[in-house]
Amino acid sequence: MIVFHRMSQSTIIQYPSNILRNISQAIKKEEIPKVIKIIPDMIRILEKYNGIGLAAVQIGILQQLAIVKTKDGIITLINPKIIKKSWKKMVEEEGCLSIPEVYGLVKRPNKITVATINAEGKRVTFQAKGLFARIIQHEVDHLNGVLFIDKAEKITMGEDILMEKSK
Ligand code: CO
Repeated sequence: MIVFHRMSQSTIIQYPSNILRNISQAIKKEEIPKVIKIIPDMIRILEKYNGIGLAAVQIGILQQLAIVKTKDGIITLINPKIIKKSWKKMVEEEGCLSIPEVYGLVKRPNKITVATINAEGKRVTFQAKGLFARIIQHEVDHLNGVLFIDKAEKITMGEDILMEKSK
């Protein structure tokens, strides 16, 4: 069952909307064909806003679905789980399409192992490191109602915007 909160075809839900705080539901096997149909829409939105990752919750669909841009194209994550994290962490600047013009430093494991279902509906496990690993962790956080500003050790840009929105 797809929970649908969308206002329009290409709107990204913005902080501080409570929708972003929902925990997305795991997608059942029989729902996968239906969920896969949402992906072209998500890709279009990602490209439109020039993003590098998008979780379905950001367009009001509370299902464990996200897309991530890589140098080899866009990959789909259905029910992604981070099953291994490196001890080594890195601090890098992050932003989010749901919190435009705000950036902050977030510490995350540099290398992860991800178990997920891909766009073909197949179970896959892969390793990711650096920026790729960071985007996946950011998107998995979205699926758990967590935003990068919750984890940021320092807001580097747009603190005033964040303050205004948090009022
Ligand atoms: Co985001």
